[in-house]
Amino acid sequence: MHKVIFDTDPGVDDAMALLFLHRHPEIDLIGITTVFGNAPIEITTRNALFLKQQWGISAPVAKGANVTFDPSRPEGHWPTFIHGENGLGDIDIPETIDLPVDPRPAHHFLIETVKANPGEVTIIAVGRMTNLALALREDPDFAALVKDVIIMGGAFDINGNVSPAAEANIHGDPEAADLVFTAPWRVTIVGLDVTTKTVMTSKFMDDMAKAGGKPVQLLSDLSQFYIEFYKVRTGDGMVVHDSCACVYLVAPELFETRSGPVRVVCGGLADGATIQKPDGRGFPPGNWDGHPSQLVCTDIKPDAVLSLIRSVIVDGKHA
Ligand code: BDR
Ligand code: CA
Repeated sequence: MHKVIFDTDPGVDDAMALLFLHRHPEIDLIGITTVFGNAPIEITTRNALFLKQQWGISAPVAKGANVTFDPSRPEGHWPTFIHGENGLGDIDIPETIDLPVDPRPAHHFLIETVKANPGEVTIIAVGRMTNLALALREDPDFAALVKDVIIMGGAFDINGNVSPAAEANIHGDPEAADLVFTAPWRVTIVGLDVTTKTVMTSKFMDDMAKAGGKPVQLLSDLSQFYIEFYKVRTGDGMVVHDSCACVYLVAPELFETRSGPVRVVCGGLADGATIQKPDGRGFPPGNWDGHPSQLVCTDIKPDAVLSLIRSVIVDGKHA
């Protein structure tokens, strides 16, 4: 059984990833930590509680950061044109959800939950890396107790999606991402190189909803705004960024990876760009030296990933 804490900014593709984690028979979702990104923290946390309630998820929700790791960074804007004003495709959601939030801030929840389960917890982070960076700053020793970190973010051999250089989750907090990639733990980075190849058509989603009943119909309803946004880019269908990171946990054989230290450009023209120095490549002494090698996903089997998502969401636990 994989014990997982899901660090997320729901977010339409985050919602699909959450349902996948909840329903996978070999995953024990032990916590959900929220972060700002697709919407402000009040909204992403409310959305996490809403999805928890609708899907009967037992994992606690802890509220996380609403500003970047370096608080002097200027505020960005919310991607309402992708995820809607309310972060979940503008479906009807009550302003408040009658469920408790864990009393701890997300980074304390991360540290304490990992310490209570040393060597057993995988953190899957699919928003800005702010909560993880705050946890590392507060307790650098906690990194050694984490089993694995899998993140959705970055663009290595292709352009970004918020600038030619940078992907949204990294661009939203570059200093945090750089700290996470250079910390002494194993990080697998599932970036745009592979997620943009993984497009779920609207028919695939409709069929899933028909087979999966009310909970999957909710996923389909909240995805329609996002599908509309992606139409211009994909012809038809949605890029399932965050689910790809969750699939990696249970089916790494569906991905190709490259090992080497990763740094993030912090500031300037290429703010938020992710750059890997592949292991074995010689360069003069530089900024990648002495940092741990991390795994960057370079290729994916999209059809197999999509059919795994479907089988887990439609036929998995709690279905
Ligand atoms: C990432 O940014 C967010 O909009 C998505 O939820 C995903 O995590 C894609 O760049
Ligand atoms: Ca996300």
